[in-house]
Amino acid sequence: KTGGRLLVVSNRGACTLRQTPGGLEIIPAVSGLVSAVEPILRREGGIWVAWGGRCGQEPGHLLPLPEGESKYLFAEVVLSSEEIKGFYDGFSNSIMWPLCHGFLEKVQFEENYWQLYRRVNEKFARTVVKMSSHNDRVWVHDYHLTLLPALIRRQRPVLSISFFWHVPFPPVELFATLPWAGEILRGLLACDQIGFHTESYVRNFLQAVEEILRARVDYLNSTIHWGGRKIRVIAAPIGIDWREYLTLAAREEIKGKAEQIRLALQSDYVLLGVDRLDYTKGIPQRLQAFSHLLTNYPWLRGKVALLQVVVPSRVETAAYQSLRQEIEKLVGEINGLFTTDYQVPVRYLYRSLTRQELVGHYLAADLALVTPLRDGLNLVAKEYVASKARGTGGLLLSPFAGAALQLKGALLANPYHPREMAEQIKRGLEMPLPEQQQRLSSMMRIIREQDLEWWWQQVKGMSNNAEQPEVAAN
Ligand code: UDP
Ligand code: G6P
Repeated sequence: KTGGRLLVVSNRGACTLRQTPGGLEIIPAVSGLVSAVEPILRREGGIWVAWGGRCGQEPGHLLPLPEGESKYLFAEVVLSSEEIKGFYDGFSNSIMWPLCHGFLEKVQFEENYWQLYRRVNEKFARTVVKMSSHNDRVWVHDYHLTLLPALIRRQRPVLSISFFWHVPFPPVELFATLPWAGEILRGLLACDQIGFHTESYVRNFLQAVEEILRARVDYLNSTIHWGGRKIRVIAAPIGIDWREYLTLAAREEIKGKAEQIRLALQSDYVLLGVDRLDYTKGIPQRLQAFSHLLTNYPWLRGKVALLQVVVPSRVETAAYQSLRQEIEKLVGEINGLFTTDYQVPVRYLYRSLTRQELVGHYLAADLALVTPLRDGLNLVAKEYVASKARGTGGLLLSPFAGAALQLKGALLANPYHPREMAEQIKRGLEMPLPEQQQRLSSMMRIIREQDLEWWWQQVKGMSNNAEQPEVAAN
């Protein structure tokens, strides 16, 4: 049963495709999901079924990836403009995303979005069924494809299906506001195993299943009994390949890049933020905290800079467009107020960086500000720690990021309280170097223990459970 190929299914794959007059352009996608899943698929080989970001009616490409290396096949799903609006911008990004992150006021419950969500889940299911055989292992990801396990199970009764949920799972009171909550849970429960980043997301999920579906939940063993089957629910936060970050951080050209970045900032202290442009990431609140810092401690003016990398994301969605405007207005205001003859306090990049560039930025910082309002986990925090492990540096973390449960050596600050955040930034900047090292090494311990390989071992233990109905495999 475990001998088959690995079939990864997610809405966004490792890249976005763009048809240009010169041919097909392959643009790397940026997210925690991609950072974790891509190296695994590269090693294991298999197929990644995903939307390539293209709009149309034609069948998708089947591409060997990475380019020139061909470690796995990318099976592209193409969506029509109606599907992109209803399924992606609509149900996924304007219902599931804000709901899971606790932004109920941003949720737009539209019946039409639901119809298109179902239709696109069916479309993905057709591709998976076409590409899979009975002994393959299907691994579905995230809130875009909750109906997929049930749709696949109908046609592939003995297939091993596992699911990983990359975002928070909200408390049942919140999840139950979703008019289609029952359908979504039923869709998910057709898999053999579901993974979340933290125990509290697991608890929320088990409660939702118990209260909404009245399913039998065994809290002690973290299993659900449903439809004659047993589903394992696990907490397994994504880990990183820390050796890669240590190695990159030791490379002379990357250290040189970090020096250049610092030199250009003309500052004694460098603060760093790296986020996809998203209202969950707390970027305006962080800018406000920085503004508080410069207002309340005028002697820091001209001495401390904030380097903020913002990766463009979901650019068609109104909430994201207005957030970009808000951020850029704040950056302008802070720079207008606090720029000196020698220094501009906020350096703002609206683009994505390669991993090498990113490590250069991590190395250039004295204190990383990872202060989301809500975040499933947050890999930037772990990558920063691994890059800094052989030196010094501080991490200021929001307690509302899943990673805060693991990275106990970080300073914490409530992102909804800019004045407190400003105080913690000051504390981070003043922290003695031995304390910085000691905190980094305590965080590295868990990053080493629960790394990417550990995560893969946790999540790959699929199916083989006693209560599965016996169906002869062919
Ligand atoms: N990242 C990147 N280039 C950038 C910024 C970020 O490759 O310019 C990567 C980063 O290394 C991390 C991922 O994007 O692995 C972001 O993951 P995270 O869990 O922090 O947040 P998400 O974007 O998934 O919400
Ligand atoms: C988060 C989600 C991913 C998603 C990514 C980027 O990390 O967990 O599922 O792919 O954001 O968002 P996008 O809408 O561009 O795919």
